Amino acid sequence: MSRRRDVPRATAGERPPGKGFGRRGFLTALPVAGAGTALLGGCVSRAGAVTDVDRILSVSLGQAEDHPSYGALLDFGERLAGATDNRWGVRVYANNSLGDQQETVQLVSDGAIDMAVISGTQIENSSPRFLPMNVPGVFDDMDHQNRVMLDDSIVGELFTSLEPDMRLTVLGGFTQGSRHLYTAPGPIESPDDLSGLKIRVQESKIFLDLINAMGGVPTPMAYSEVYTGLQAGVLDGAENNEISYVTQRHYEVATHYTLTNHLIGFDFFLANTDLLEEMGPEDSRALRETFTETQNAFVEIWRQETEKATEQMRERGVEIHEPDPAAFAPIIEETGYAILQDEADIAMYEAIRAASEEAP
Ligand code: GCU
Repeated sequence: MSRRRDVPRATAGERPPGKGFGRRGFLTALPVAGAGTALLGGCVSRAGAVTDVDRILSVSLGQAEDHPSYGALLDFGERLAGATDNRWGVRVYANNSLGDQQETVQLVSDGAIDMAVISGTQIENSSPRFLPMNVPGVFDDMDHQNRVMLDDSIVGELFTSLEPDMRLTVLGGFTQGSRHLYTAPGPIESPDDLSGLKIRVQESKIFLDLINAMGGVPTPMAYSEVYTGLQAGVLDGAENNEISYVTQRHYEVATHYTLTNHLIGFDFFLANTDLLEEMGPEDSRALRETFTETQNAFVEIWRQETEKATEQMRERGVEIHEPDPAAFAPIIEETGYAILQDEADIAMYEAIRAASEEAP
């Protein structure tokens, strides 16, 4: 039976909520503000080419509009409208304007938001079965990761495992590329340099263990709060890919970027399962297929955008450090494998490794 919230239909074309809207107030006002489930009719003017679609799906994103996943979601919206004869389009709510990731998982589950981009480490909190996907060293590179994420024999069951209890379906997602450390006080050449430094992590066991093992003091915090945390000195550093570092302007408050390559992350794309059922087989298949096209194109876009972000870092005076790989690599590898909890985790980890081109 459908558990989607009964959201009154409204005409689209409305103003997207801004940061200053106040989350509580915003959620109360969700139906009239235009998010919520499949609003009837309208055009998505800010989303470029998606105009005059019959129903608009809300998508929550934690990134700013200059992050490539924003453009990718607009691309997906255009493809979806094209493939469904303008029956469906999307509106992307950037900058966590619908809530931080941990909240939006629940909102998609409730059907108050149709879809959301959620970091792997946050889904790990809903289901530990996702944990092997977040383990340092499990993927050789982004191509290996993308191959795995599209391989039904590896991820098929996992991606539907949240449907019965949470009404969440995973449709794939976007690579986060390699993640690295950045710090305000100075460069990080070895675990000793991290001693006593408060490093922001996502709210996840993997990151707590990893930063601990690397020598720092892990400090869980929502993504949207990291800039002020660094600025106020509540944090000494954080960890993320080059693109997030630049688009969140963290280089303004932490100028040492250390290439630790500790993990290749993944942002999962979640949809409310009842929505997919309501769309019917033809349109929900179109949604899956068009998202996969966008996901595939994203890997190359990510490579190019990472180069651009690195260039921007240099222009803005960021000091980029390359520590001796031997300083962190063994610690990272050991922590990664130790995180696996049980036989199911180990089986998933091994299936992912077997899909590596480097696998024996
Ligand atoms: C990356 C990732 C986000 C995540 C963020 C974080 O930017 O793409 O989904 O929220 O890291 O560190 O919280």
